[in-house]
Amino acid sequence: MPTVKDILETMDYGPAPEANGEVVKWLKARGAFGHFIGGAFTRPEATFAVENPATGEVLAEVSQGSRADVEAAVKAARSAQRDWARLSGHQRAKWLYAIARNIQKRERFLAVLETMDNGKPVRETRDIDIPLVARHFYHHAGWAEVLADEFPGTGPVGVCGQIIPWNFPLLMLAWKIAPALAAGNAVVLKPAEYTPLTALAFAEICAEIGLPKGVVNIVTGDGDTGAALVAAEVDKIAFTGSTEVGRIIRKATAGSGKKLTLELGGKSPFVVFADADLDAAVEGVVDAIWFNQGQVCCAGSRILVQEGVEEAFTRKLRTRMAKLRVGDPLDKCTDVGAIVHPVQLKRIRDLVARGEAEGAVLHQAECQLPAKGSFFAPGFFTGVEPANIVSDVEIFGPVATLTSFRTPDEAVELANNTRYGLAASIWSENVNLCLDVASRVKAGVVWVNSTNVFDAGSGFGGYRESGFGREGGREGMGEYLSFPAPKEKAEPPVHAPETSPVPESGAKAVDGIDRTAKMYVGGAQKRPDSGYSYAVMAKGRLLGLAGLGNRKDIRNAVEAAHKASGWGKATGHNRAQVLYYLAENLSARAQEFTDRLRSAGASKGAAEREVAVSLERAFWYAAQADKFDGAVHATKSANVTLAMNEPFGVMGIACPNAAPLLGFLSLVLPAIAMGNRVVALPAQDMPLSATDLYQVLDTSDLPGGVVNIVTGPREELTKTLAQHDDVAALWYCGTTEGAKAMEAESAGNLKVTWAIPNCDWTGPDGQGRRYLSRAVQVKNIWVPYGE
Ligand code: NAI
Repeated sequence: MPTVKDILETMDYGPAPEANGEVVKWLKARGAFGHFIGGAFTRPEATFAVENPATGEVLAEVSQGSRADVEAAVKAARSAQRDWARLSGHQRAKWLYAIARNIQKRERFLAVLETMDNGKPVRETRDIDIPLVARHFYHHAGWAEVLADEFPGTGPVGVCGQIIPWNFPLLMLAWKIAPALAAGNAVVLKPAEYTPLTALAFAEICAEIGLPKGVVNIVTGDGDTGAALVAAEVDKIAFTGSTEVGRIIRKATAGSGKKLTLELGGKSPFVVFADADLDAAVEGVVDAIWFNQGQVCCAGSRILVQEGVEEAFTRKLRTRMAKLRVGDPLDKCTDVGAIVHPVQLKRIRDLVARGEAEGAVLHQAECQLPAKGSFFAPGFFTGVEPANIVSDVEIFGPVATLTSFRTPDEAVELANNTRYGLAASIWSENVNLCLDVASRVKAGVVWVNSTNVFDAGSGFGGYRESGFGREGGREGMGEYLSFPAPKEKAEPPVHAPETSPVPESGAKAVDGIDRTAKMYVGGAQKRPDSGYSYAVMAKGRLLGLAGLGNRKDIRNAVEAAHKASGWGKATGHNRAQVLYYLAENLSARAQEFTDRLRSAGASKGAAEREVAVSLERAFWYAAQADKFDGAVHATKSANVTLAMNEPFGVMGIACPNAAPLLGFLSLVLPAIAMGNRVVALPAQDMPLSATDLYQVLDTSDLPGGVVNIVTGPREELTKTLAQHDDVAALWYCGTTEGAKAMEAESAGNLKVTWAIPNCDWTGPDGQGRRYLSRAVQVKNIWVPYGE
């Protein structure tokens, strides 16, 4: 045994294990677990073993949920949901408070159970995970209380299917269940097969406090159980996990009308500028990628260091790495715990070996790993070529890549050189630089001089292939609410347009009918690539011709839209001025637009009303361009969390056949007011009201490429837009089949889609803040202040 003097020399800690007797007793008493359905546990059936990743010991047997189990749980949720939603917000808040208090009462138990199940150090579960779980339920109890005032006119979605991963088992559960319950939904949650135990302990808490039966249901099992939940009669799926499974779920839910949020993978940049506090940044790396075994979707796994400090930073990092304590997760002094499962360990080993084989240099802590259990020594790669697998693929283990950059522009370029967009961490003592880079990185969460900070009051979620939707705070609440369905449903199918070659120029204006068939791309009129036009008819009369757009026209329009990127950077004031001007120009030509609608068969009153509302809408969205702004969330102390509304970039918009002028403007105006550039497909049967807008757009100082109009077969062109990697978001208003195709085709790059129900476009459903909120994605930027 070492003497005190020895210890003072070596500064070596002895072990400080957290007692786990209570948890072992609890597990022994339970034996095998069934599912938690309708307020009670079912008899365990078809069980599988859940192991402690740090020891390999079996902790419990858990049931593999079948389709029938899932259906029973959904049924229980369905019958409980109506009464739950009928409770007042105040009554639901009381239940959420009760959950929060009971979690707090059992914090230590839950922290130990989580550590045994997941392998992460007890320091993390005790200090981060479980306190945040309680915080989530308290925070959302508050949302239940104020729901009617804060989200007027909304209601719950219904029954929510929730599928979560193994990296933050109870915290992910809280992220999903707390807002769902606050909003009046009932849930069926499937925890990850490696880590179901805290969810089952949570089920016991629900039973103990007497939460109405069926409001929370937990069905355990693997991916098959998850797939059964996706297929079940639920109204929403909320999924966190791999991008690959996210894609499968996007396809499986296409056209089902189920609301969907996906929180997927990441390869987040961790950018260190030369003037950063390097010691703080090194501790940031420890938090970002090592303390959690790298098993965090938003882990800063790509370290980018400015050239001048690369050497010093790397040296400091190696020194710090050598001091990390890897081992028993229940030891309170452990920094790096166990990898969740041998399968995941193998994945990490394989990826790291491939990274080395492809030429990267691995620097790894030379620590003594425990003899049993799944452990991996923390490390980082240098000399990583862009083509190396580890520069692109999520390792999801305690290994980062480190590369250097010269200028802020290069840092931004490297940071954005990924298909993901979950998070970013930026280190510099210059706040101007930090916020400039924060505004330019494509990520849903940006931490300035900090990393992996979470709070229930802030939204969390990604851009690009990191998924869509937000969890937490006001943004997350919105995901669990629905607006009352508009009265009208999807429109009847559109017919293939009758085509004929585009007449040569000079064939214009025969019988007073404009026979040119131009589209509007990059601020100029363009002939369709196909060389064909289609006849626009009303009551058997030819009104004019429209170009028959094809894939190439869409590609050209998307390219033109990309070039108009200055629109997204313009101030809200500038955009407002252009849109006011547009509205004025439109009103100067109100009669022409009315005549056009009348020629298409609208009655005088209907045509006049459509134009009048179009004008109102144009002025309204012009006014909103500099008013629909973000928020500063109340999260941690000495920190501002800025929730910034950012445009998507290039959006596709397929417009309804109904209300050819107003339908078009109701969708295009909010999108451009928020700084997006648009490729719009006007009403297929009556595109002329949109093509008549060319001159209005031209004379309104709208930069070329902000609005591009491609006429032609809407369903086909929508598919092209859905498949296009450079279209970030897509809105579609049309047929049920068309909406389904859009959702399925967009799974490739997981773009944000919105199948918009047709409505009375002249009424209040056709306008409002919800169109604006759908036209932006929220970026949460965390900026600490003080010493
Ligand atoms: P996964 O995506 O397969 O599993 C996540 C959850 O989805 C689990 O509950 C699983 O049972 C369920 N699931 C699997 N297949 C399903 C299907 N077809 N339909 C419905 N649900 C399904 O993730 P996995 O296999 O655990 O980890 C693989 C990789 O995914 C990791 O190495 C990591 O790269 C990434 N990952 C990302 C996470 C994140 O937080 N974004 C969390 C966990 C993993």
